[in-house]
Amino acid sequence: MKLPPKTPSESRTTITDIVLPGETNPIGNMFGGELLARMDRAASITARRHSRRIVATVAVNNVSFNKMIPLGSVVTVEAKISRAFNSSMEIIMDVWIEDRENGIKTKANEAIYTFVAVDETGNTVPVPPVKPETELEKERYNAALRRKQLSLVIAGKLNPKEATELKALFF
Ligand SMILES: CC(C)(COP(=O)(O)OP(=O)(O)OC[C@H]1O[C@@H](n2cnc3c(N)ncnc32)[C@H](O)[C@@H]1OP(=O)(O)O)[C@@H](O)C(=O)NCCC(=O)NCCS
Repeated sequence: MKLPPKTPSESRTTITDIVLPGETNPIGNMFGGELLARMDRAASITARRHSRRIVATVAVNNVSFNKMIPLGSVVTVEAKISRAFNSSMEIIMDVWIEDRENGIKTKANEAIYTFVAVDETGNTVPVPPVKPETELEKERYNAALRRKQLSLVIAGKLNPKEATELKALFF
């Protein structure tokens, strides 16, 4: 049975939290692993909202730590689904820090995780397709298959010769 498509805004998740002393490195900036965990939580909620299934992280595809996040910062992780395939879902996160005085948010980091929907016995199950609405959502949707193939090639799960989207880029 074909599942009806869902828009990225239907499963969008934001988590806002402060950076406490136990979550920093020796020079007082947020520890990378702490941010990875916050992003994993936000992304898993998005994947769960989209699929309404049990979900598991199958890959952390890309993380760029572009800006240091000082102790006491208010950090917001926004997680949105970019595309769903059969059982897998690509979730893109944007991370923002908020200025204490004027409340203006500055983009600090970005990340892409892949989740898979499973049943109670751990077998993969199909998820609804994504219907992108905004220009950014359409851009992210269109590039997602290329990123999936790259991730599978790096993980040794796809023969580079079969990565049609990557070949189209380079040859
Ligand atoms: C998630 C899991 C059930 C998938 O099982 P599997 O036998 O690898 O299943 P498949 O090979 O059919 O892959 C399932 C989907 O994930 C995709 N996938 C697998 N590895 C991937 C990777 N490295 N990057 C991107 N997508 C990947 C596959 O392409 C497939 O997508 P599709 O169904 O949308 O076409 C299994 O790998 C697992 O249990 N992993 C551990 C998950 C976990 O515990 N996460 C928390 C980490 S502590």
